[in-house]
Amino acid sequence: MTEPAAPRAGEAIPELVTDRLLLRGFRDADREPFAALNADPAVMEHFPATLTRADSDALVDRILDRWSGDGHGLWAVERTADGVFLGFTGLARLAFLPQPEIGWRFTRFAWGQGYATEAARAALAWGFGVRRFDEIVSVTTVGNRRSRAVMERIGLTRDPADDFPHPNLPEGHPLRPHVLYRIRREAWEGQATA
Ligand SMILES: CC(C)(COP(=O)(O)OP(=O)(O)OC[C@H]1O[C@@H](n2cnc3c(N)ncnc32)[C@H](O)[C@@H]1OP(=O)(O)O)[C@@H](O)C(=O)NCCC(=O)NCCS
Repeated sequence: MTEPAAPRAGEAIPELVTDRLLLRGFRDADREPFAALNADPAVMEHFPATLTRADSDALVDRILDRWSGDGHGLWAVERTADGVFLGFTGLARLAFLPQPEIGWRFTRFAWGQGYATEAARAALAWGFGVRRFDEIVSVTTVGNRRSRAVMERIGLTRDPADDFPHPNLPEGHPLRPHVLYRIRREAWEGQATA
């Protein structure tokens, strides 16, 4: 089987299909449900603040820009059965980390059904199999149990020595202590063929 070529900066956002989900570029129709999830205090519990509609729209614009600049980024996640927008998953570039960061944010009604894990596995496979990254990491607040569980389910591991204070949050901020999980391509290949 020939592997699809890795997109380069400026190329179209690839689409990934899983059992229940379609990962695709953000569309204008996603802006409203995305703003709703970004305004939900439960979804944003581990972030400093909820987002206004303007902040949320600006984030969509940044997400799309990043794809053309970096050749990787965050996908909108759509449930194939009914076309409903559920959130995002993908490979972001963080200013303070050399490796791409795998991340996710889903609307609350989509929690507890394995969607984040399913989307993350597809994003990881694309990152290693197509984009050929050597290592992918993921970071979150120490207390973000659900997000850490996704990281562990997809095979990332944490060394407490990698824990760090988030550089954008002031000393003493309750969300400042972060954990870092990582997986190298060889380890992913090992688990993919196991
Ligand atoms: C982080 C987040 C995406 C995790 O969502 P989640 O629903 O816990 O994770 P998954 O979609 O992988 O679902 C896993 C759960 O679904 C259950 N499940 C049900 N059907 C399943 C299926 N077919 N396959 C796999 N799991 C299934 C699992 O048992 C698990 O349940 P549990 O939480 O009771 O153990 C979600 O909580 C979120 O969006 N949080 C807000 C944003 C955020 O904090 N993002 C991370 C910032 S770093």
